[in-house]
Amino acid sequence: MTGTETALGAPAERREGREKVTGTARYAAEYDRPGRTHAWPVPATVARGRVTGVDTAAALAQPGVLAVLTHENAPRLAEPDDATLAVLQDAKVPHRGWFVALVVAETPEAARAGATAVRVSYDVEPHDSVLRRDHPASYAAEQANGGHPGSTEHGDPDTAFASAEVRVDVEYDVPPLHNHPMEPHSSTARWDGDRLIVETSSQGTSTARDVLAGMFAMPAERITVVAEHVGGGFGSKGTPRPDVVLAAMAARHTGRPVTLTLPRRLLPSVVGHRAPTLHRLRLGAGADGRLTALVHDVTTHTSRVKEFVEQAAVPARVMYAAPHSRTVHRVAPLDVPSPSWMRAPGEAPGMYALESAMDELAGELGMDPVELRVRNEPETEPDSGKPFSSRHLVECLREGARRFGWSRRDPRPRSGRTGPLLVGTGVAAATYPVMVSPSTAAARALPDGTFLVQVNATDIGTGARTVVAQIAADALGVEPGRVRIEVGSSDLPYASLAGGSSGTASWGWPVHDACVSLAERLAGRSGPLPEQGIEARADTAGRADADSPYARHAFGAHFAEVTVDTVSGEVRVRRLLGVYAAGRILNARTARSQFIGGMTMGLGMALTEDSTVDAPFGDFAESDLASYHVPAHADVPSVEAHWIEEDDPHLNPMGSKGIGEIGIVGTAAAIGNAVHHATGIRFRRLPLTPDRVLTGLLAHESPAPV
Ligand code: MOS
Repeated sequence: MTGTETALGAPAERREGREKVTGTARYAAEYDRPGRTHAWPVPATVARGRVTGVDTAAALAQPGVLAVLTHENAPRLAEPDDATLAVLQDAKVPHRGWFVALVVAETPEAARAGATAVRVSYDVEPHDSVLRRDHPASYAAEQANGGHPGSTEHGDPDTAFASAEVRVDVEYDVPPLHNHPMEPHSSTARWDGDRLIVETSSQGTSTARDVLAGMFAMPAERITVVAEHVGGGFGSKGTPRPDVVLAAMAARHTGRPVTLTLPRRLLPSVVGHRAPTLHRLRLGAGADGRLTALVHDVTTHTSRVKEFVEQAAVPARVMYAAPHSRTVHRVAPLDVPSPSWMRAPGEAPGMYALESAMDELAGELGMDPVELRVRNEPETEPDSGKPFSSRHLVECLREGARRFGWSRRDPRPRSGRTGPLLVGTGVAAATYPVMVSPSTAAARALPDGTFLVQVNATDIGTGARTVVAQIAADALGVEPGRVRIEVGSSDLPYASLAGGSSGTASWGWPVHDACVSLAERLAGRSGPLPEQGIEARADTAGRADADSPYARHAFGAHFAEVTVDTVSGEVRVRRLLGVYAAGRILNARTARSQFIGGMTMGLGMALTEDSTVDAPFGDFAESDLASYHVPAHADVPSVEAHWIEEDDPHLNPMGSKGIGEIGIVGTAAAIGNAVHHATGIRFRRLPLTPDRVLTGLLAHESPAPV
């Protein structure tokens, strides 16, 4: 144990690192219970309609096939709050890819062969799966995700915009995007008498247990849900997905343990996606660069299964001082797979549009884009009027500019060229709200001088165990090596999920409190501890969820340098640099990984990631990693993440803000702005693939004759 590891903030190594690199870390599909079977789903091949018959004879005749579940024979479940989980409960097909049967067999191969042999017939209805800005089915949503009001208005934005000295009125499009974690969604379930035990790849097992308890109409105490290790989620495992429900149903139906690992090909239509967002930004400013009007209109889609409204205009309520503003979310329910959470839902697409439009405004004003943002720094949160608990956006911009060498930039578009490459740089701001949820924890002092800390945190690859140990050791005043951590089981003290960048704050708070009271009790006693040790517990209900008089957000600034190949249209990112103000950084090593991971995902959003709804089929055309392009090593250049020490007493005992998502926010805008600087062309639709860029370059070189 190194001395530096004792300090909160130290770059402690991941506790489970050795298990992961040696392959001994167990994931949900790797619990090989005696008698275990495997399941394979059958997806609907039509976009809308009803199942009129399922012919299972050929499937059941396959060697090793044990059962085929359909809506006719599957266990009846109570209606879930999340209707995407109501699988095999009726004949309705709400979108292509919806599961209409499940084959259970002795091996995964037999299950797959069985699934291929199932014959499903349908009554097909016409479908509509293409989003447009003027879609007749779209309506202004009452609420956007996260409980935000769908629309807000301050002052008279239309008049202010119309009379502004400088105006930008632009549209930006972000396509559907998919989370595609390395580990696909996967669950192993078994019944032990009236107990249900599930290992699942999930961002929160307390939540999964409660959902299963509701659907299977049984007390939560009879269910154990375990997620020891999770190979990423990025939001798509934030709420339980159909795999866990189907595995539990199949285990009940067959009386055997069942593992269901969703094939990657089936993920895009059943585990959620970032909904496409069509943006219109209207920015009006005086010649001094001060915004007078800010209007952000977002149009998005949802499925027929549930209303999901990507809250993409919400960051416009936080970022800049504008006396007249309006934000609106419109949503069109279509015959498409259900969207869901994806890293920085709302902020990631919303800040792409807003920060690109700000760059356009800087261009119209002839003002440096860093200075434009500084000039529009608000004194209080624009929408709520609340004071910020802390806000160091300007410091992030200044520090980023210094580190990046921004002052050496020639602001003229298309001013940098080496051979066939155009070179450009761009900047964009980032923000992400501070979220925290009530959680509980137990801390126990043992007679051998060690400590056991229990909290149902979920480590989705972030290093949750490690940072929780640092928080505990810091509160106890001991070396982290003396603290053992147990996370990842719903049998542990209840804790909230790993989502909304809220995990460390939500889990660390009760861990801190339990450890502080344990330390007090230890200080007040003498003599050896009893064999079972002594324990302290803490619960942050009523505190973690209390309303704050402060607006609490993390902020950041992203800088990018790109080259644009004039021959191929290929954009490559040479440098990415982020500077963040996110409260106290609790582990410098794992925090850096979170930041650069988010930035890398933002690079993918900017350049390659693109899910397209295939209109005749009503489902995504890209259903594997050969067609949905996430950045590979060669795509990811020098990525630097830095932070500003921020001392914010209005957060939680550790003084931390969430860091899992802010790295993706604004990154695509910084890259897009750099592409504009390189080329002099404004591309307003992601991703910036070579075909689109080349088309733009060719049109720019030789404008079409009029
Ligand atoms: Mo994140 S999309 O809140 O898991």
